[in-house]
Amino acid sequence: MTLLILGQTLAFEADPFAVPPEESARHASRGGVLVEDGIVAALGTADDLRAAHPDARIVDMGDALISAGFVDCHAHYPQTGMIASWGRRLIDWLNGYTFPEELRFADPAYARAQAELYLDLTLSNGTTTPCAFATVHPESAEAIFAAAEARGLRLAAGKVMMDRNAPDGLRDTPRTGYDQSKALIERWHGRGRLTYAVTPRFAPTSSPEQLEAAGALWAEHPDCLMQTHLSEQPEEIAWVRGLYPDDADYFAVYERFGLAGPGAMMGHAIHLTDRERAAILATGSGVAHCPTSNTFIGSGLCDVAGLKAAGVPVGLATDVGGGSSFSMLATMRAAYEVGQLRGHPLHPAQLFWLGTAGSAQVMRIADKVGTLAVGMEADLVALDLAATPVLAQRTGRARDVWEALFALIMLGDDRAVRQVWAAGKEVRP
Ligand code: GUN
Ligand code: ZN
Repeated sequence: MTLLILGQTLAFEADPFAVPPEESARHASRGGVLVEDGIVAALGTADDLRAAHPDARIVDMGDALISAGFVDCHAHYPQTGMIASWGRRLIDWLNGYTFPEELRFADPAYARAQAELYLDLTLSNGTTTPCAFATVHPESAEAIFAAAEARGLRLAAGKVMMDRNAPDGLRDTPRTGYDQSKALIERWHGRGRLTYAVTPRFAPTSSPEQLEAAGALWAEHPDCLMQTHLSEQPEEIAWVRGLYPDDADYFAVYERFGLAGPGAMMGHAIHLTDRERAAILATGSGVAHCPTSNTFIGSGLCDVAGLKAAGVPVGLATDVGGGSSFSMLATMRAAYEVGQLRGHPLHPAQLFWLGTAGSAQVMRIADKVGTLAVGMEADLVALDLAATPVLAQRTGRARDVWEALFALIMLGDDRAVRQVWAAGKEVRP
């Protein structure tokens, strides 16, 4: 079945950190996206595509902007129920709010309900692909994979591995963590649109033996992703220094255990030494920038412009529930504000690219999703630039698409998400 979606279209053709941002994308004010068998088959003007494909089913989104769906490269779906928890820094926040909620995922029925709720929230915000941490319970990973499969979503996830510094009921062992993760890889990795991410939570909650097992597992399944946390808060970094006194720094711990390289996704990466920056770059590891989380938990300001200028792959992420929103528009807004505080305000093209193609790049799926281009999977979002009175007024005065997009980023929310497609199928809840 052929589908022709009409509206404004925005198609990135280059990395806006590498070329002048305004020249990184092609914008059509009356464009179209032809979808065949879930794949983008053609892009062009609405008139040309209509004439060439008279039998296509037409979905006319009017003036809405059709873009690649958002890709959130770091989130904790089990933290949906404790998002917006007040007043603590990372370690107390984990112990006081996060771990008690994650304990509830021992109940598979609760895990299934929260997985559905989480996907309802991400899809209604235009996110077509999340990369999610589950909890230590294998059933929690089962729940999110099964929910994503039923909706036809491209998604990555992994069971958290943690064998120390966590409460009873929330620890595995080097052996069980390895075995359970391996069984999940065999069941889910590469099935349909699903990817497994080997998921040691972070160095403080894994023994050296467990990090070694995680590295061995990833080496045995190198086309899986690897996700963890790095250098989010100074107290955490000091803790890692105490737990791993023989390693040069925090990132060196991951390097020693084979947990660096393409497809390794470091959440946060705020307080880096020069050696760590160089090693992240040299190993080809990626960074998940989580700006709402970094301000919410009081972690600091990630140097996105510096990392990108150095050549480090960077994606954008909500980090729900350390992050304060399910919306990638809100996350772009926070990335802009973090950039302002660092003296590098990001251009709207850069913000949008980070939340689509940039995240796809760190997840190694940039050949499949994250860009509106022929041959890509038709994971799309239609964004209403006039969704609210103030947004309508502001975008109505915009001189070009970038000004309109910036207003959408600063003022937009899920009311602007008119429709969402996964592989060409409408999936907005
Ligand atoms: N570091 C280790 N676990 C977590 C988590 O769940 N959230 C955040 N923000 N940082 C972490
Ligand atoms: Zn996180």
